[in-house]
Amino acid sequence: SDGNPKSKIMLIGEAPGANEDDEGLPFVGRAGMLLDKMLAAINLDRKKVYISNIINYRPPKNRRPTDEEIKRYLPFITKHIEIINPKILILLGSTAMNALIGNDVVISKMRGKWIEKEFGNCKTSVIITFHPAFLMRQPAQKKMSWIDLKMIRDKKTNLKIK
Ligand code: URA
Repeated sequence: SDGNPKSKIMLIGEAPGANEDDEGLPFVGRAGMLLDKMLAAINLDRKKVYISNIINYRPPKNRRPTDEEIKRYLPFITKHIEIINPKILILLGSTAMNALIGNDVVISKMRGKWIEKEFGNCKTSVIITFHPAFLMRQPAQKKMSWIDLKMIRDKKTNLKIK
């Protein structure tokens, strides 16, 4: 994990890749560079947000985490959300969405909506949006991503988050 632990905005990805594994920080590789650009587009600096992943080690050969791994790590990420206590929680991609919202939803239908959720004592506004690694493979989806980013920008203004 990385960023300001006092941040009111938390982002959660999937799992570290090779670069993240080397540096011990989330989103420092190519997907991370795109994430930085996405945040910059709505005047957010990664130093002002808090970033973590569902799984905290790199799955062999970059495979997606299994249901068993997600289940094993779920208590840690939920506790992590409680400790950071963000006002806005951004879930990047379907792994984070399925882990924290449920397996019965699809990202194409769930992205771009605010969902009020409670994680222990943390009441937060959750938004699901596409993972930057997905956007690198499917650049046509960047227009949907931009809609979501503007929603985050507006929510941040409404909540008076600096
Ligand atoms: N992709 C993720 O989901 N998390 C990272 O930290 C890096 C790439």
